[in-house]
Amino acid sequence: MSAVTSSTSATKPLRGAIIGCGDISPDHGKAYAEAGIVVAAVCDLDRVRAERRAKEFGTSETTIHTDHREVLARADIDLVTVATPVAGHAPVTIAALQAGKHVACEKPSTLSPDENRAIIAAERASGKRVVFFSSRYRYGAATLARDYIAAGELGDIYRVDMRFYRRRGRPGVDIIPDARWFIDSTLAGGGVIMDMGQYFIDNTMSLTGWPRIATVSATTFRGFPHQLPAGTTFDVEEHCSIFARAENGCSFSYDLAWMSHHPPMRTLTILGTKGGIRMTDEQPFCFHTEKGPWKFVDTTTPWRDDTRQSTLVYRDLIAAIAGNDPGVGTTPTQALALTEITRAALQSAKEGREIALAPAAQKQAQKRG
Ligand SMILES: NC(=O)c1ccc[n+]([C@@H]2O[C@H](COP(=O)([O-])OP(=O)(O)OC[C@H]3O[C@@H](n4cnc5c(N)ncnc54)[C@H](O)[C@@H]3O)[C@@H](O)[C@H]2O)c1
Repeated sequence: MSAVTSSTSATKPLRGAIIGCGDISPDHGKAYAEAGIVVAAVCDLDRVRAERRAKEFGTSETTIHTDHREVLARADIDLVTVATPVAGHAPVTIAALQAGKHVACEKPSTLSPDENRAIIAAERASGKRVVFFSSRYRYGAATLARDYIAAGELGDIYRVDMRFYRRRGRPGVDIIPDARWFIDSTLAGGGVIMDMGQYFIDNTMSLTGWPRIATVSATTFRGFPHQLPAGTTFDVEEHCSIFARAENGCSFSYDLAWMSHHPPMRTLTILGTKGGIRMTDEQPFCFHTEKGPWKFVDTTTPWRDDTRQSTLVYRDLIAAIAGNDPGVGTTPTQALALTEITRAALQSAKEGREIALAPAAQKQAQKRG
């Protein structure tokens, strides 16, 4: 367990509050326990949900709230977890920073680059730390990839390809049916690109050192049948295909499906001038290179990491708060770069053209990445 400190005492554990007690909140409850954070409060607009979570993972001192402002007003809380629908992320994160709390915010970070910029400004003004959970996928096999890349084993990386297909997994439709907000663009900001794409874009940008993305081109599709009640808003994509060009010449593609007539699949390929990496859920981590003409070498490494990823994010945040930032968690400037790529992809799909990105945010992401 990480050494933890609170702002009030060097020996006491951090005290946290979980705001949003829906489907993902038990994951945060477990991670608090594993990272040594006290569940001081739980909060949901729906009191029944908050009470249920307090019973599941709270302690006798966990208080229950329906208004996050009550939580933020408490001096005994060091850290808040924001696990509301996406539309709540920026307002609650900014209010928490202004109240002097560190923040662990679910992914995707925000609905718009302007919200990301407001979070960056609030973080700087507060002196507190914010981490986003799009970095959940920077652990496990990704740590091996990071080591290979850092050791120069890939040479210059020129191509990254990520494919993620679900057979039938639209949140709010086929899975977690109560969470209908996932399919409403005003609350979710988009479909599979916001839900799962954030992890993969984050992970690949992180592995390749946050290259500046110059242009983004994308298509989206929605059209599978569903049995939602009449009047339900469903205006986000089920499939998104993206091609992004970095200024350094590397190209990135992402093919993301909430639903497809295809077996479930998750495959990441990273190609460099000296070596290549292929990661899939089913196979070991594979590194491919050559030691001379036609002397191909393929290395496989079992990579299973049983540590729960959310716990690792919290441990890194705790270390960052203590001044020993391991540099793994998604920072606000990196989150801005992700939102810019995401919004450009959705704009490209809507307008049927390639979108050029302004470089400012990505420059910052690169600096801090
Ligand atoms: N469900 C998953 O498997 C999953 C996995 C990873 C990440 N996430 C992310 O976690 C976040 C939450 O997702 P979820 O699936 O738990 O959604 P959910 O709909 O199950 O839960 C969200 C909860 O937030 C509450 N809420 C909304 N605004 C609030 C506010 N201002 N104060 C207090 N409570 C508020 C709602 O009442 C609801 O109970 C999203 O950003 C999502 O992308 C979800």
